[in-house]
Amino acid sequence: MNSYDAYFRYNDGELTCEGLPLREAAERFGTPLYVYTERGFRERYMEIDRALDGVPHLICYSIKSNSNVNILRIMADMGSGMDVVSGGEIRRALAAGVDPRKIVFAGVGKTDEEISGAIDEKILMFNCESFEEMERIDEISRAKGTVSDISIRVNPDVDANTHHYIRTGRKENKFGIDIDRLKERGDFIRGLSGLRLIGIHCHIGSQIVELPPFTAALTRLLTLIGGLKRDGFSDIAYINLGGGMGIRYRDEEFFPIEDWAREVRGRVSAAGLKLIVEPGRYISGNNGVLLVRLLYKKRTGDRLFLITDGGMNDLIRPSLYSAYQNILNCVRREGSEVADVVGPICESGDFFGKEREITTSLPGDCLGVMSSGAYGMAMASRYNSRRLPAEVLIGVDGSPRLIRRRETYEDMIAHELVP
Ligand code: LLP
Repeated sequence: MNSYDAYFRYNDGELTCEGLPLREAAERFGTPLYVYTERGFRERYMEIDRALDGVPHLICYSIKSNSNVNILRIMADMGSGMDVVSGGEIRRALAAGVDPRKIVFAGVGKTDEEISGAIDEKILMFNCESFEEMERIDEISRAKGTVSDISIRVNPDVDANTHHYIRTGRKENKFGIDIDRLKERGDFIRGLSGLRLIGIHCHIGSQIVELPPFTAALTRLLTLIGGLKRDGFSDIAYINLGGGMGIRYRDEEFFPIEDWAREVRGRVSAAGLKLIVEPGRYISGNNGVLLVRLLYKKRTGDRLFLITDGGMNDLIRPSLYSAYQNILNCVRREGSEVADVVGPICESGDFFGKEREITTSLPGDCLGVMSSGAYGMAMASRYNSRRLPAEVLIGVDGSPRLIRRRETYEDMIAHELVP
């Protein structure tokens, strides 16, 4: 089961990671602080890789979930490719030593600069999201005297049954191309001599905890690929099923990765295709914690607020998606209390958890917002002119390493052109 307690556990009343008390990490590096486990990243990658044994595959870790270059280095070292959605993510992947031939580039709004840069770096393929984008990539490729490999991201119109902000595979979403429209426009695609269609891609949403949406999308893609091949698109060699596999934040029950893999392995092998998957959260989500310090305990009416030094600018998931993430005190004490855990930001939506029963805490305590490895630091901002937090990676030997220093106030205003 993909849950945080594989790596973050109480030991003699202290919350630890690889034997290191998190309280100590907070004291040494300050708060708010993201702490990650290297072992977790390696093990989650290996778990998926092993499950897909027997079908030719490429795991393209989805950079957007956690993009620190040191994390990407670990993934590259494991042999992972990368799913990128911007020129910036390509830059990060290359800085981490990822082989460009393992980079797939998605996103609905690629700019000419990004397209041109990706062609020059000789990435594996573009995941195209519209006919208009195909025309752009075709033009830029021909101008460079080259042919670019593409996959087409289709919208399989399946409901991933997840939060509406992270559901992407339905007709009303902006992502991908409608399967029926794609079938009608075969001649258009054939006419783009700067492109070679080598794959079909989809990504139906994120934090999906049921198998049927994946199975339905797979069926639709395989049928589509069969038809396209019959229509003469004989270069199609890849099926890319995107990411979206869910993890346990609270008490979610979800399918074992092995069940998903069994389904995929057999059918993709039978079709003679090479599989690409783009997991983000499944790999990074439960490998990180956000440590914050309790500043004040404030009572208003019958509510207790635990006011911490971390806010929605550091971790926005609870505010933006009403996401539930567990909150633990780094030191286990007697008794518990029900409280709203909030930050210092001037917004009522600034909270990590509401009406949570947690160990009775004292000002100065360090709290851990669990399962923050995915879409935590990656979505952090400087709202309210707060400095971006620092990040620490705990190695397999239990030693902590600072992988992003806390910003200084000088960093914060460095790009503003003060006369
Ligand atoms: N591939 C594509 C094309 C994607 O758009 C995404 C995520 C992934 C792969 C990776 O999905 P994952 O395996 O991590 O579910 N910020 C939201 C999640 C947004 C996901 C966006 N796309 C959250 O915090 O829940």
